[in-house]
Amino acid sequence: MNFNESVTKTNLARSFAAECQAGARYQFMSKLAIQNSQKFISDTLKTLAKNEMAHAKVFYDHILQLSGGNVKNISIEAGYPFEEPELKNSLREESKIELSEAENIYPSFARIAKDEGFDEVAKSFDFVAKVEATHHQILEYLSTLFNAGKMYKRKDATEWKCSNCGHTEIAKEAWKECPLCQMPQGFVIIDFEHEFEHKHS
Ligand SMILES: [Fe+2]
Ligand SMILES: [Fe+2]
Repeated sequence: MNFNESVTKTNLARSFAAECQAGARYQFMSKLAIQNSQKFISDTLKTLAKNEMAHAKVFYDHILQLSGGNVKNISIEAGYPFEEPELKNSLREESKIELSEAENIYPSFARIAKDEGFDEVAKSFDFVAKVEATHHQILEYLSTLFNAGKMYKRKDATEWKCSNCGHTEIAKEAWKECPLCQMPQGFVIIDFEHEFEHKHS
C-alpha cells in the first residue's frame, strides 16, 4: 500500500503528537513534584518524559523514511488530554492514559500497520505498547502510594536508600530526614523491580 494513502501515516502522526504531549506533561509534573519535595517522583517522571520523547522520535523517523521526505504536512484530528496541574490527580490520570495506549491504541495501530504491509511500523507500535504497560504499572503504583500518603511506609520492613548519598536502612518506614546527608524523605528511592516482584510472589 502507498504510505501517503495509508491509515498508518495518520496513526503515526497522531502517535507522534501524543508522545510529544505526554513528554511535555511528564516534564510539567516533574517540576510539580519538586515543588512538593518529591525528588524521587520527579526523577521518575523525568525518565518517563525521556522515554516518551524517544517514542516520538521513532514515529517521526518512520514518517520521514516511509514518505521519502515528501510529506510536508499531515492533518490529524484527535482528542488530547488537558489535566489539572496537581500531582495526585495527574499521576492517576496518566496511569489510565498509559493503560489505554498499552492495551488498546498501540495494539490496534500495530494491527492496522501489519494489514497495510508496514511490518517495521507494526513492530514499533508493539514495542512501544510494551513500554507503556510498564509506565502504567509504575504510575499506578506511585499514584496509589502517594494518594494514600504511604510513599515511604510498608507493611514489612524493607531496605530504603537515599538517592543523594546512598545511605541505606531496613525499616517499615523511611526516615523523615536522611541520617547521613539530611536530605528530606522525598529523596528516598523506591525500587520498583524489587517491590513488584515482592507484590507478585
Ligand atoms: Fe510513549
Ligand atoms: Fe508512556
